[in-house]
Amino acid sequence: MRTLLIAGNWKMNPPTRAEAVALAQEVKAGVGTAVDVHVVVCPPSVFLQAVDSVLEGSPIGMGGQDMHAQSGGAYTGEVAGAMLVDSGCTHVILGHSERRHGMGETDAMVNAKLKSALASRLIPIVCIGETKDERLGDRTEAVLDEQLAGSLAGLSPEEMAGTVLAYEPVWAIGTGLTATPEQAQAAHAHIRKRLAEAFGEATAARVVVQYGGSVKPDNAAELLACPDIDGALVGGASLKAADFLAIVAAGRQVSAR
Ligand code: PGA
Repeated sequence: MRTLLIAGNWKMNPPTRAEAVALAQEVKAGVGTAVDVHVVVCPPSVFLQAVDSVLEGSPIGMGGQDMHAQSGGAYTGEVAGAMLVDSGCTHVILGHSERRHGMGETDAMVNAKLKSALASRLIPIVCIGETKDERLGDRTEAVLDEQLAGSLAGLSPEEMAGTVLAYEPVWAIGTGLTATPEQAQAAHAHIRKRLAEAFGEATAARVVVQYGGSVKPDNAAELLACPDIDGALVGGASLKAADFLAIVAAGRQVSAR
């Protein structure tokens, strides 16, 4: 049975360390010691250590928002996987659409980062998803196939089972538009079918596949109730502790069924 994973992608927010600490404190207080749903927060890298101090003694994990594929060296502005681990990270988001589309990140780059993250013992959250034009052009499944094949190339079944995927339709990110539960479930079922073909049924059944794209307290329950949706990658709503905790609560209710 897969445990739901609710992750908050804070992106380039909040503006100050004090606000990041306050947000982490509120999330920590709200989650308490509950582990029926896994919760992760992904602050900007400059706030990781401060947030890690807040989360001490809590079951909440912490993720970086990106990392470099190399383990160190002359890469100005970049952060290595081992540095994320040293700062307290358990997870790392890779291939977010804002990096794929805004910064030219390719499947090959995501694949190299993924292997490096696994070598650093981070749990990668690999993001995939189609643009609006691709969906309208009926190319959603073809795009997902390409991203899955390229991003996950060369993984062993065991490595695959330890990797989280996030299906995030680009048209739903930060737009207030959400995939309907039917649209999301169809994409997730397709992803799991491809995972089964590439890595075997047993492995596919273990992979946590999150949905992301305007997940809010009022739509979380129906999305999380879909059989192939194993959690949420939450952007905007993760910046308000009450909203993020409401999404976690929806996950807990779904899990208890
Ligand atoms: P959103 O972002 O919830 O603000 O749409 C999701 C994401 O980018 O991961």
